[in-house]
Amino acid sequence: MEPAPCCSASYSYDDYKETADWLLARTNKQPKVAIICGSGLGSLADLLKDKVVFPYKDIPRFPTSTVVAGHAGRLVFGKLNGRECVCMQGRFHFYEGYSIQTVTYPVRVFSLLGVESLIVTNAAGGLNDSYNVGDIMVIKDHINLPGFCGQNPLVGHNDDSFGVRFPCMSDAYDRDLRALAFQTAQEQNCDSFLQEGVYCMVAGPSYETIAECNVLQTFGADAVGMSTVPEVVVARHCGLRVLGLSLITNKVVTDYDSDVKVNHEEVLATTEIRAQDLQRLVSHLVTKI
Ligand code: HPA
Repeated sequence: MEPAPCCSASYSYDDYKETADWLLARTNKQPKVAIICGSGLGSLADLLKDKVVFPYKDIPRFPTSTVVAGHAGRLVFGKLNGRECVCMQGRFHFYEGYSIQTVTYPVRVFSLLGVESLIVTNAAGGLNDSYNVGDIMVIKDHINLPGFCGQNPLVGHNDDSFGVRFPCMSDAYDRDLRALAFQTAQEQNCDSFLQEGVYCMVAGPSYETIAECNVLQTFGADAVGMSTVPEVVVARHCGLRVLGLSLITNKVVTDYDSDVKVNHEEVLATTEIRAQDLQRLVSHLVTKI
């Protein structure tokens, strides 16, 4: 049996620094862009050229992944369409049992590596009735539902060397990067399935009940998923610009007479169909950041 991941963890500046220094000593690459690949979207990292790859288990202090179908566990440095990037192929999810601080550990490491912009991708369920399966939603804002319940990664001692005690979140998703996503989608002829909306994070791993979906729709969420928000909160705390992209892999069930059942296989099947479009969008926009 896999050992349980660390459920409670607190890290010091020195921990993040040790990880960053270890990586800096092993690659001469200095990416300004980091990409966190969501479920089924890790193949983006395979597109990188001149790759330098570090399995998470080899990186000091880095969390190691419990491999869920569709997630690998490695940090990949390299050039995406000519632009130096670092990619997380496989992220850490709260539902796997990691603490919310562990989930966000890589983001502070990115900041210490000199990264300035973070692109986060995820698979999400569509709450907005006008969305279709296969749409890509540019995240305009988020609802941090675990945060409502005390699971905010910034709870606890504030390390001022990363950011302020009470960071602003009304500008979490960079307006210029969102505009760039739409502009690039137009150029790449994939704007017909690009949406913009609000992402709500739930802890998971159970999918939402019908009543829960109704609540989330009433809250104003357009898509629901089990990731991204903690990383974005930590990224904004340390001053990274953020672009978030959700691939709508399924529509949530809101009808008590429906026989549709959301399942992970459907989620992965949709990511396979749209992964290439998402990769094309990301690889063209990174060159313009
Ligand atoms: N709910 C939560 N997370 C998800 C979903 C969903 O419907 N689809 C993909 N990730």
